[in-house]
Amino acid sequence: MTAKLYTPAKVGRFDLSHRVALAPMTRLRTIQPGDIPSPMMADFYGQRASPGGLEIIEGVSISMTARSYFGAASFFHDGQMNGWKAVADAIHAKGGVAFMQLIHGGRQSHVYMTGGVDPVAPSVVPFEGVALTADGWVPVSPHRALAIEEIPDIIEEFRLAAQRAKDAGFDGVELHGANGYLVDQFIQDGTNKRTDAYGGPIENRVRFLKEAVEALISVFGADRVGVRISPSGEWGGISDGDPEATFSHVARVLDSYGLAYLHVIEPRIKGDSTLHEGRPPVAAAYLRPHFSGPIIAAGGFDREGAQAIVESGVADLVAFGRFFASNPDLPFRLANDLPLTPYKREHFWGGNEVGYTDYPFADQAADIAA
Ligand SMILES: Cc1cc2nc3c(=O)[nH]c(=O)nc-3n(C[C@H](O)[C@H](O)[C@H](O)COP(=O)(O)O)c2cc1C
Repeated sequence: MTAKLYTPAKVGRFDLSHRVALAPMTRLRTIQPGDIPSPMMADFYGQRASPGGLEIIEGVSISMTARSYFGAASFFHDGQMNGWKAVADAIHAKGGVAFMQLIHGGRQSHVYMTGGVDPVAPSVVPFEGVALTADGWVPVSPHRALAIEEIPDIIEEFRLAAQRAKDAGFDGVELHGANGYLVDQFIQDGTNKRTDAYGGPIENRVRFLKEAVEALISVFGADRVGVRISPSGEWGGISDGDPEATFSHVARVLDSYGLAYLHVIEPRIKGDSTLHEGRPPVAAAYLRPHFSGPIIAAGGFDREGAQAIVESGVADLVAFGRFFASNPDLPFRLANDLPLTPYKREHFWGGNEVGYTDYPFADQAADIAA
């Protein structure tokens, strides 16, 4: 019997032919200056496309001040349009579905990346994170709290970025509400100390999330918008007094929009994408009763784990990061029980085609082994 992981699924308005998605991965391979998507990036996503397969493109910063990492993707000026069109085209050429993840880094940044202005956050809560400049990893710059009058401008930047993604041919967008970046900084009470309408009780802390989601929906419609959350994430010094209550509320709020999907990073993955050994995936399980649409689970999955969580009904799809990086034909390999090529972490962030677009497809792998 075919495992459910390899059967069709409906995600928003899209009919997928299998449930193995590409997780968003920042690979720091844009062309500088200008964060121009490189032809190499179109190759990478084209290689990983499959008919009816969902790809979620790496975190794309919505403005200059939203940027965190030198070489990372962004989409806020016209010079980037052709590069992003090439990425969407490469995915569509193989019948794939292309979602772009939109991100604002918030306090996880450095003046070098923001164009010289202080990084912004809901509140001033110092932390010892790092940002990546052209000179390498450096401690983040001190940030400042957003004035309430500034918030509509950031929401508008989310809307504009979504419009650009649509103009470039993307099928939808995913709001990056995970991993301690700006949206997450608003949601969680360790980083949100505001006393206005955007802080305090959870109903207020989700206001920024709701406004950002509504901006994306205004461009694409709810059935082409997803949201990613990391209820147990620690990256970016993020924390919450009661994550289960907070994120159950988030799931209920998001459920009311009829979104394409909710994307949940499981607790066993650390923010730096290494494993907390031995922790079971549970976040999607406690969120399931609160969200009636498709749930994508991500973080530390292998073939058996992915099959099991989809079979159980807790998740509808599984997004793979690192193994999709090193196996361009991952859905095919998983479905056919073929061995997986190990990933090379030293090529994750920055560099050229090596460790990026030179991983073999299964038939090439067989040739090499023969
Ligand atoms: C190189 C690399 C870059 C990543 N960049 C992003 C990103 O831009 N946005 C995001 O939400 N998660 C990002 N992640 C996290 C992955 O999407 C995924 O949640 C994580 O790798 C765990 O899944 P895995 O065990 O299948 O690799 C990144 C992970 C890696 C390894």
